[in-house]
Amino acid sequence: MQTTLAGDLPAGFLSSTDLSTTTRSTSSRSALHQTSFSGIISQCSKMQKVFAVIEKVAQTNSTVLVLGESGTGKELIARALHRMSNRPGRLVPVNCGAIPEEILESELFGHERGAFTGATSNRIGRFQLADGGTIFLDEIGEMSPKLQVKLLRVLQEKVVEPVGSTKSLSVDVRVVAATNKDLWEEVQAGRFREDLYYRLQVVPIELPALREREGDISLLAQHFLSQECEELNKHGMFLTKDALRALENYNWQGNVRELENLVRRLAILADGSEISVEDLPPYVLESKSECAIVETPHVIPEDGLDFNNLVNAYESQLITMALSKTNWNKKAAAKLLHLNRTTLVEKIKKKGIERPEEEREPARPQL
Ligand SMILES: Nc1ncnc2c1ncn2[C@@H]1O[C@H](COP(=O)(O)OP(=O)(O)OP(=O)(O)O)[C@@H](O)[C@H]1O
Ligand SMILES: [Mg+2]
Repeated sequence: MQTTLAGDLPAGFLSSTDLSTTTRSTSSRSALHQTSFSGIISQCSKMQKVFAVIEKVAQTNSTVLVLGESGTGKELIARALHRMSNRPGRLVPVNCGAIPEEILESELFGHERGAFTGATSNRIGRFQLADGGTIFLDEIGEMSPKLQVKLLRVLQEKVVEPVGSTKSLSVDVRVVAATNKDLWEEVQAGRFREDLYYRLQVVPIELPALREREGDISLLAQHFLSQECEELNKHGMFLTKDALRALENYNWQGNVRELENLVRRLAILADGSEISVEDLPPYVLESKSECAIVETPHVIPEDGLDFNNLVNAYESQLITMALSKTNWNKKAAAKLLHLNRTTLVEKIKKKGIERPEEEREPARPQL
């Protein structure tokens, strides 16, 4: 994917015309307005803000912490940051959650021959491999306390010490870390070092869940469909309007990855060129019941109504209901509404929602 300037879009953006394959298989013309930022497809304002941050930070050496639910595109962001950094070295990804602690230490920092049983030769670590480039520390929240200490030292002093060696080797590595955990909660629970937390999140990038990205579900569905069609050499496939609407109404707990996998499967299994609502799995259609609440018809008076006020009021009502149902536990309420906790907290603050007196917990009796 090229990353040249497209029209008056900022660097990194591609206009829809560069995505010719995407528009070919679409059922509507809406895809014409889409943009791809270094291969990341989105048209929603929350993601445009993310792209603006990437633009600003990519060419600095600043550590970036990418936060977001599973499947929201954290690795794509890391790749975009590296691609746009112009650093001459390579991008080296490490999944800290998938490698046992003892092996991870030697993977990251390398080892000397004889450092432990089985260390038959010297081995260079991934920090050295990433010298001049970027290391992507995925699932950083899973890193053990011992390695957190070592990582902090690398970040502060820019040197690595291979296992079994007393020599320090200097490295010039840009660190991008990612997690789907609430890292601050991990700090408070004593599982993640506070000093490392601050060191990592110099620039935090919080990715919204797919269900919070307005207009992106259809856009991405059509994008993945056209990609899969290219691969399968099946041309002219499209999703019907009803199918797109059903996809838009589903919750996508697995985010973009879940949508991508489903659309690719639908493309493979489709007999003709049309993918309709009947082709979707039942669990996608079941979530329709939620839209029924939203779709309850309102009477629009002759002189009209204030759309924004009404939507705001409805949002406040839903948030208050969820808070009330969860005994005003924001984390649980956010989960009920399939929102990020921070998004919910922001909305509560903005709307000035307060716990009513009658729902307050009684004061503890004085001993
Ligand atoms: N905005 C997007 N545009 C196009 N493809 C996307 C987008 N976001 C995610 N994807 C695709 O979705 C899949 C999951 O993305 P990625 O691996 O970056 O997510 P993740 O947040 O790192 O997930 P996990 O937490 O499970 O590791 C990948 O195939 C990626 O290419
Ligand atoms: Mg990932």
